[in-house]
Amino acid sequence: MGYALLKAVHVLAVVLWVGGMAFTHFFLRPALATLEPPQRLRLMHAVLGRFFAAVLVAAALVLGSGLWMVGRVARQAVQGGGSFAWPLDWVLMTALGLLMMAIFGHIRLVLYRRFVAAVAGQDGPAGAAALAQIRRWVGVNLALGVVVIAVALLV
Ligand code: HEM
Repeated sequence: MGYALLKAVHVLAVVLWVGGMAFTHFFLRPALATLEPPQRLRLMHAVLGRFFAAVLVAAALVLGSGLWMVGRVARQAVQGGGSFAWPLDWVLMTALGLLMMAIFGHIRLVLYRRFVAAVAGQDGPAGAAALAQIRRWVGVNLALGVVVIAVALLV
């Protein structure tokens, strides 16, 4: 795959992931106040199931395309007789990107499962508590995503 195509896949997956978090956090969540609590939980159950499935694909594409680009540049440098050292912005992007993926793993595998179990058991308070934790960690990942984008474009 060409380098430009890899970068396009990388950035489009980032747009889906970070843009989706921004939409959920700033637009969908405040609008939930217009619904009754049981309806809020049902709506978020339907939304988050779909969104997290898309994030799983987006995160895999971000990681795969990112490492592929690093590998390409490293191979070209070595084939050209030179050596390869990770540029600072790539190191930061990879470290923070892996942190974002670990946080997403926690959201999807621990908090979201807790939320789904609460919805299935019609336990409103437990569902709202799990949702509040998901919101907090999505907020953290959104902030990290914005930092990574700033690093990628400015450093
Ligand atoms: C997790 C592993 C990641 C790796 C290995 C990685 C690696 C890379 C590489 C090698 C490039 C190409 C840079 C260039 O050609 O100058 C790139 C570009 C970019 N990455 Fe990542 N990345 C990762 C995660 C992320 C994440 C999580 C975000 C955002 C949330 C992100 C945002 C960007 C952006 C916006 C660009 C385009 C920069 C430009 O064209 O100047 N990356 N990434």
